[in-house]
Amino acid sequence: MGNPILFSLIFCTFFINGLVVSADWSILDLKRTNGVGDSLKKYCESWRMNVEMHNIRKFKVVPQECVPYIKKYMRSSQYKADSERALEEVTLYLTSCCSLEGDGKDAWIFDVDDTLISTIPYFNKHGFGGEKINSTSLEKWMRKSEAPALKHTLELFHRIKDKGFKIFLISSRREPLRSSTVDNLIQVGYHGWSGLTLRGLDDEAMEVQNYKSRVRQLLVDEGYRIWGIIGDQWTSFHGHPRAKRAFKLPNSIYYVA
Ligand SMILES: *[C@@H]1O[C@H](CO)[C@@H](O)[C@H](O)[C@H]1NC(C)=O
Repeated sequence: MGNPILFSLIFCTFFINGLVVSADWSILDLKRTNGVGDSLKKYCESWRMNVEMHNIRKFKVVPQECVPYIKKYMRSSQYKADSERALEEVTLYLTSCCSLEGDGKDAWIFDVDDTLISTIPYFNKHGFGGEKINSTSLEKWMRKSEAPALKHTLELFHRIKDKGFKIFLISSRREPLRSSTVDNLIQVGYHGWSGLTLRGLDDEAMEVQNYKSRVRQLLVDEGYRIWGIIGDQWTSFHGHPRAKRAFKLPNSIYYVA
């Protein structure tokens, strides 16, 4: 017993709790309400927050003890509220950002998965980030074209398009998934984009960040002004050329590197 004060504090807490909840006293309940459960929640919340801040990078799996927490978050009204808040900031930006020149060269970029459509139904059945991604199985699911729209993005997508931006979708999906991706997007209400870039064989060999910045370079070379990107992955924003603004949607299930 190194610390008598701490010891008596613990003892008192024990004792008082024991009195108050004497009817159903249990060491496990005590732990859950005052100790282990609470610190696990804090740990997982700060893990998630640091993923979003891009301090934690290239994670392969969600820490095992946080899988239930992440699963709860990604299906919660908080995830929805966080996404909606990000998109409200886009709306605010759009009120003053861009003097569109009407020459058809004003561009806006979107990611696809977990930006326009959701992979949550897949991960719900496949470990929710707690297992390393099995791309065979994920692509098999993608081929079914059953990913639901993220409703808040869908509405904004059309507003951005109606303002006169040319919309480019740049995805880390592979080229063989083109027709399933197009079908899926159209079925849930997306249409009218000017380009959909998927990863060809050469692109698969490079890091996603380099692939995506190369695609942006091609757009800039064609004279496009990239006013904004909406994506759920940090690797969609980094590298040159940059968009004038980037808006990050939450995603703590996987990291695309
Ligand atoms: C990945 O998924 C495929 C198709 O569902 C399955 O056949 C294969 O065994 C899985 N691989 C691993 C390593 O789990």
